[in-house]
Amino acid sequence: MDKKLSTLAILGATGALGKGLALRCTNAGYPVIIGSRSAEKAQKSADELNEQTGLNKVSGLDNRSAAAAAEIVILTVPFSNQRDILEVTREELQGKILVDATVPLMPPKVRTVQLPPEGSAAKAAQEFLGEGVRVVSAFQNVAADHMRDTEHEIDCDILVCGNDSDAREVVVQLIQSIGMRAWHAGRIANSAGTEALTSLLIFINQRYKIDGAGFRITGTPART
Ligand SMILES: NC(=O)c1ccc[n+]([C@@H]2O[C@H](COP(=O)([O-])OP(=O)(O)OC[C@H]3O[C@@H](n4cnc5c(N)ncnc54)[C@H](OP(=O)(O)O)[C@@H]3O)[C@@H](O)[C@H]2O)c1
Repeated sequence: MDKKLSTLAILGATGALGKGLALRCTNAGYPVIIGSRSAEKAQKSADELNEQTGLNKVSGLDNRSAAAAAEIVILTVPFSNQRDILEVTREELQGKILVDATVPLMPPKVRTVQLPPEGSAAKAAQEFLGEGVRVVSAFQNVAADHMRDTEHEIDCDILVCGNDSDAREVVVQLIQSIGMRAWHAGRIANSAGTEALTSLLIFINQRYKIDGAGFRITGTPART
């Protein structure tokens, strides 16, 4: 019998990255709930995705209801808005895995690494939410346009950081199940590295006129 796939809430999937992620998760068979500050806006995005995929697997709710209804919650909102959404959903996230894609870009200098005082956006999320929520960071180095274009094979790797190795493994498996390569990359403090890499990629994209540069891990693993 097929394994039942977890219900995912993607908070901010009305926007660029979350929409692409919702599309790829839906195509892989996951039930997806789009979270937004506005339930109507979330439902409109869900209707568009259902029409695009021909599947009826996406629904839309306000962020708090979406977090409450899901088994795994993914956060795809700008850094300036990350704390607001965590405040709204803090209670609903307890006992769950939160996958945080936030990159602490601080416009206008987005080509320069600028990390928050806590060390990284994901570490700040973990400290704010407490140990009852297993925060895992991922997806900071993948271009939203590539995620949304399902004809485009994602040819960069996803680095996955978090303090709980079981939660990290769940997220690594989830990413692999939607067709991408994922790597355990250590504790949540290491998310500083992945978040910082995004500014390097933005610089490289502009310097070399690349449409969405990415990173790959080289070497052959002797264990998975
Ligand atoms: N875009 C990329 O290529 C990319 C790649 C990797 C990582 N990331 C990271 O992923 C996160 C999401 O990026 P994105 O490009 O998808 O963001 P986005 O499209 O600008 O925003 C995503 C959603 O966040 C909410 N939001 C936006 N601005 C807000 C504000 N000022 N106050 C409150 N809510 C706001 C909106 O949702 P509602 O209005 O529905 O609430 C919006 O649809 C960011 O941290 C980004 O750094 C992005």
